[in-house]
Amino acid sequence: MNELEEVARQFEADLLEFGAARAEELRIKYLSKKGIISKLIEKIPTLPPDQRRDFGKRLNELKSRIEASIKQLAEAQSDRVSFEVKLLDNDLTLEGKRPPVGNKHVLFKARDELFEIFKHMGFSFFDGPELETDFYNFEALNFPPYHPARDMQDTLMVGDMVLRTHSSAMQVRALQALGVPLKAILPGRVYRREEVSARKYPVFYQFDALVVGEGIGVGHLKWTLETFLSAFFKKKVEVRFRPSYFPFVEPGNEVDVRCVFCGGKGCNVCGGTGWLEILGAGLVHPKVLEYGGVDPKRFSGFAFGVGVDRMTMLKYGINDIRLLYEGDVRFLSSL
Ligand code: DAH
Repeated sequence: MNELEEVARQFEADLLEFGAARAEELRIKYLSKKGIISKLIEKIPTLPPDQRRDFGKRLNELKSRIEASIKQLAEAQSDRVSFEVKLLDNDLTLEGKRPPVGNKHVLFKARDELFEIFKHMGFSFFDGPELETDFYNFEALNFPPYHPARDMQDTLMVGDMVLRTHSSAMQVRALQALGVPLKAILPGRVYRREEVSARKYPVFYQFDALVVGEGIGVGHLKWTLETFLSAFFKKKVEVRFRPSYFPFVEPGNEVDVRCVFCGGKGCNVCGGTGWLEILGAGLVHPKVLEYGGVDPKRFSGFAFGVGVDRMTMLKYGINDIRLLYEGDVRFLSSL
């Protein structure tokens, strides 16, 4: 009996030592005609008759176990060989397939172009919260409570806070935080209760430019506008002011640029007028300066508010604002 156990132990050790690469040698050692198992079978008739049956049974079990192990080993070996052959069939020097690579969203491409221009013009950047108090979004900008001018912007409320309706909400925050002289861009996402259409979306991007110091006037405003618009559209841009009303500037203006597509002759982008309406601007209202802790007798300033979406659409010839927000890769990867 001990002899069979000894063979079993020996086989386990050989299995490890020989490994898959030498499965055939292992088979010969144990299972061939002159192998260890055959020798043991030949021994059966020499045993005392009462032991033969039991010995034979155990020997058979051992043989089956050894056969199964060697079969497994041989299979592992042939898998390995065919894997190696497959590798040789393939040309490993060929380039792999590249996964598609994303690109910067056109809205942020245009925004970054705009910010780069203002950086070169010496502006700093100031950030504020999207969930705003009524004070900064309206009251400090000279929209008194219940004033009808609040209806110019359909507001989304969250409790008694507002989702800021314009980046102008950061004007008084910037004055309070940075003081004067001030020359800053106030960028961010803004929200309005708006039906989605080709021209309107309930969330969009704006920035305000705010410049306050001694002796700042309309001349500085006009020069700044012409300079940044010409840099952005990469051509000399002509602007015109039309008087308009915004509570936080006095005087307030709508600013138009000579159509960058037709040069003023009239086309379908400018609706035949030769001018594109692009932003609101004006001289900062004394009340706003006061709320910002700035003496309006000594300091003055200008502000303007730009729709980043509008600028993106004009520069890249996009006629539907929804394309900027709906993540259609066919559109996004074409720009
Ligand atoms: N905040 C205004 C709006 O979203 C735009 C605007 C107008 C901003 C005049 C200004 C400004 O800074 O001076 O409709």
